[in-house]
Amino acid sequence: MNAKILFRAITFLLTLVTFAQTDLPQDYLKSDFHNERRELLRKSMPANSVAVFFANPVRNRANDVDYIYHQDPNFMYLSGYKEPNAVLLIFSDNQVDGDVSFNELIYVQKRNPMAEMWYGRRLGVERVGSDLDFSNAFNGEDFKDIPVDFSKFDKVLFKDFQNDVRDSKRDDADLYSLIEQFKTKASYEAMQVQLPANDKIVTSKTNIDVKSLRTLMASLREIKTEEELVLLKKACEISAIGQIEIMKAMHPGMSEAEIQGVHEFVYKKYGVEYEGYPSIVGAGNNGCVLHYIENTKMSAGKEMVLMDLGAEYHGYTADVTRTIPANGKFNKEQKSIYDLVYKAQEAGIAKTVIGSDMRKDIDKAGRDIINQGLVDLGIIDSITQKHLYFPHGTSHHIGMDVHDLSNRGPLKENMIITVEPGIYIPEGSKCDEKWWGIAVRIEDCILITKDGPVNYSGMAPRSSDDIEEMMKEESILNAFKLPKLD
Ligand code: GLY
Ligand code: MN
Ligand code: MN
Repeated sequence: MNAKILFRAITFLLTLVTFAQTDLPQDYLKSDFHNERRELLRKSMPANSVAVFFANPVRNRANDVDYIYHQDPNFMYLSGYKEPNAVLLIFSDNQVDGDVSFNELIYVQKRNPMAEMWYGRRLGVERVGSDLDFSNAFNGEDFKDIPVDFSKFDKVLFKDFQNDVRDSKRDDADLYSLIEQFKTKASYEAMQVQLPANDKIVTSKTNIDVKSLRTLMASLREIKTEEELVLLKKACEISAIGQIEIMKAMHPGMSEAEIQGVHEFVYKKYGVEYEGYPSIVGAGNNGCVLHYIENTKMSAGKEMVLMDLGAEYHGYTADVTRTIPANGKFNKEQKSIYDLVYKAQEAGIAKTVIGSDMRKDIDKAGRDIINQGLVDLGIIDSITQKHLYFPHGTSHHIGMDVHDLSNRGPLKENMIITVEPGIYIPEGSKCDEKWWGIAVRIEDCILITKDGPVNYSGMAPRSSDDIEEMMKEESILNAFKLPKLD
């Protein structure tokens, strides 16, 4: 095929791809949202400063296969740009270059028909301008000529680098190159003096600040806007519906992987792009591993199954856990532990109100109940006994990250946090072995409002009685039979 025909073929393919693009969801965050977020960040920045954000790196899975790309949440929040190899600069004050003035710059991936045919469409500077509403968008290759002198700022704000970004030798506008160019321009290396004696890094006089940006971003991101709450509510409701469908479909012969598949099938039916974190499905003793993601047990049997999964809808993730008996009926020991965790969660949710402290109020309310309950059941000797049966905190914010940014102050209206007490009794624990292998976590996503807590994931039954009732319902999935394989 000669070059002209090849070019025509590629152009034709790209046209088809462009047509297909019109059939997209209409409920993404709009450019107004991202624009306003940048404006608010700008207002909160110190005078004469610049904030620099890099896109997330592409991560290699193996050989020539990469992991699905996921944008850095701060980058996404401020720009809506979903591609890698990009840098965003926000200036506290207007910058002047000749007769041009600007207060933000974005450098993005250049259009490239060949790369787009293989790896997916790129917005390119034009559509970053028109669709994302950036007046000053440039190709990444222009970053080396950025008309900015970083030494003149009182503060250059960014998140420190992890040195874990690959260099694509063929591309001098990839993330690696953008970071290297920035380091030179901002005199990044010069700020660090290595002291070999105690391995400490001290910072010499510099305008570089790798701490403050986190606090500034957390102040914005921890309080959700109306648009964000629409997406978060949807993510939570979809995750709750996943829990409901598996309650109907669960039977003792189900494997952990199949259970995971039912949740994720529900997510896809609703147009969810990803899971917000790897799905956790642990039957019996596996539930004692807090972030168990192997999900390889072949059948749940008579055990309880701990299912901690969250749909990520248009960038916002839920975080919902239910623990249910695979055979539809809690036995005596399972019910005792379950009802105790439920009581602790109820107490925690009641404290999820404006002004509360996640640790001193919400966590304490549930932890006191669990400690007393464990004493009453003879699992520990006294409420002051140190133990590992409830080894994690009760709450964290959710949002673009499952453990979302926050400054951990008193709760305010339109914050959204989890309330997720748990009890985990691994095999071999120092208590009667009738308790071994019991693990329960109940986790919901609670919005803080002037009128009290609102449970976005409350659609999925939480009490042991309600779960047993739901598990009696027929599931359409029972009719889904596949051929047996050798
Ligand atoms: N799914 C992780 C957590 O509950 O924090
Ligand atoms: Mn959680
Ligand atoms: Mn969770």
